[in-house]
Amino acid sequence: MEKFNRTNYCGELSALDLNKEVSVIGWVSKFRNHGGIMFIDLRDRTGIVQILVNNDEVKIDDIGNEYIFEVTGVVSKRASANENLKTGEIEIIAKNVRLINTASQPPIYIKEDSNASEDIRLKYRYLDLRRHCMLDRFLTRSKIINITNEYFSDNGFIYVETPYLSPSTPEGARDYLVPSRIHKGTFYALPQSPQLYKQMLMVSGFERYYQIARCFRDEDLRADRQPDFTQIDIETSFLNQDQIISIAEGFLKKLFKETINYDVKLPLRQIEYDEAVNVYGSDKPDTRFDLKINDVKDLFLNCEFNGLKESKYVKAIKVENNIAHFSRKKLDEYNLLARKFNLKGFICLKVVNSTVEGSIAKFLKEEEKIGLINKMEAKNDDVIFLATSDIKRDVNFGLGALRSLLAKELNLIEEGSFDLLWVVHFPLFEKSELDGSISACHHPFTRPCDEDLAKLKEKPYEVYAYAYDIVINGYEAGGGSLRIYDQNVQKEIFEILGLSEEEINKKFGWFVESLKYGTPPHGGLAFGLDRLAMILSGTDNIRDVIAFPKNLNAICPVTNAPYEVSEEQLKILGINIDKGE
Ligand code: AMO
Repeated sequence: MEKFNRTNYCGELSALDLNKEVSVIGWVSKFRNHGGIMFIDLRDRTGIVQILVNNDEVKIDDIGNEYIFEVTGVVSKRASANENLKTGEIEIIAKNVRLINTASQPPIYIKEDSNASEDIRLKYRYLDLRRHCMLDRFLTRSKIINITNEYFSDNGFIYVETPYLSPSTPEGARDYLVPSRIHKGTFYALPQSPQLYKQMLMVSGFERYYQIARCFRDEDLRADRQPDFTQIDIETSFLNQDQIISIAEGFLKKLFKETINYDVKLPLRQIEYDEAVNVYGSDKPDTRFDLKINDVKDLFLNCEFNGLKESKYVKAIKVENNIAHFSRKKLDEYNLLARKFNLKGFICLKVVNSTVEGSIAKFLKEEEKIGLINKMEAKNDDVIFLATSDIKRDVNFGLGALRSLLAKELNLIEEGSFDLLWVVHFPLFEKSELDGSISACHHPFTRPCDEDLAKLKEKPYEVYAYAYDIVINGYEAGGGSLRIYDQNVQKEIFEILGLSEEEINKKFGWFVESLKYGTPPHGGLAFGLDRLAMILSGTDNIRDVIAFPKNLNAICPVTNAPYEVSEEQLKILGINIDKGE
């Protein structure tokens, strides 16, 4: 059997090793033949070291990029140091070079500043992961897992694994279904989260549970969303919202310190949901930049411009001192965004000579112009965007989206800065955007605030919940709530959500039953591990921190999954596929 004689890793050699005989193993990152001398850059997971081969003394019969060699030689000082390389001061003068494996010409050139498209990099993911910038993200991710285990086990949490083959849990997305062979025509659902299992563990008296849990959601994918992703999932008994938040904050402090040496100041700021939406146009506001949204409806109650007078909501944001940025083309782009958010009107006004200019300015009375300038505290050269709608959500979220876009375009975000905050006091219910039906804002096990209980039946939209999201740099990095522990309240919530007694029994009867036998008051939260890894490794693409991610079409580019399966397999499962042909 082969024996490898590695004494050192490539990237760990330095001038401290001068004159030592060492053995390294690695992939050929590049090689150059200069007459009698060959230089090889040999790469392993720690870095790259230069090998100098004297062709007269050491014979290499076959070499190519990504070949694997074991090299034995003496560490020597380089004639001229390469400052771009960690090992740039030294090189290994080869005494013996052993070919371990050859490699075909790789379809992507493996170099740190690769300009290959993401599609091809995802297809050859295993090669792309050879780049150290990729590996670094997985080192951060791995550290997050270690820190998680350390923090929660130190704080008395018990690690429990819950099933993948589960009943459906309503987290708001579609389920991935798994057909049962034994009970044809029935399906498991892959868990959207371990929510109900972890609640039942509280009924079991486990008191503090955690799990690094894989979750599966069939929903539209985005830069921060994958169909299978990982949560750091937590549940506790006999703690109130502040206590749970405090445990979560302790974790975040340790996490930021031990991964990127960043000091998180505790306690974190808390913003109420209504303020987040009204002022920042988002339930996950990025407050690293200002651009606050102002309500200016009262200025236009008698306006001659009907769009302003008749819209139920008129809101504005101001961009300081930057008229030049807003070309015709830019404004067209914003108009598209406004359309996407169903805004009734979207107006750009420029502040010039202490008054406002723009297409609708001629319809505005002097007092309206001055009123707007005063309310927005605007100065010459500022730009004011007005958005109108009869739907509060649209006007807020529309301006929220514009706010984020402007921050990027105008570079308003300080690089390397972190903004951690809680959004609290969420409404319990929301109206579905699709069909106007009532649905749970978080999930249907969220506990309504005591002071709102009386309004549950009559005014459900005015009921708030003990729910909290942790927001980092505008990403929802986690969320949780106190749970309902009274089976009657739980039933009432199901009823408000339009579930019949029969449906409740069929879907959640087993869960409602579990609440009968002495359920402790409990609550918890789940962090999105991938999103934390993304934030802590400084990328804005969740695929960068998942070893084998799906692309935006929910396909695994390496394996091409999902696949058609054979007739035989389908027959065993009792499934007929209607291909619609
Ligand atoms: P929620 O649905 O808010 O709560 O999920 C918790 C966190 O998981 C992350 N997340 C995702 N990350 C990547 N891709 C996705 N498709 C995705 N969906 C969610 C987010 C989110 O904040 N059971 C509750 C938690 C609880 O109440 O304890 C739950 O799953 O960072």
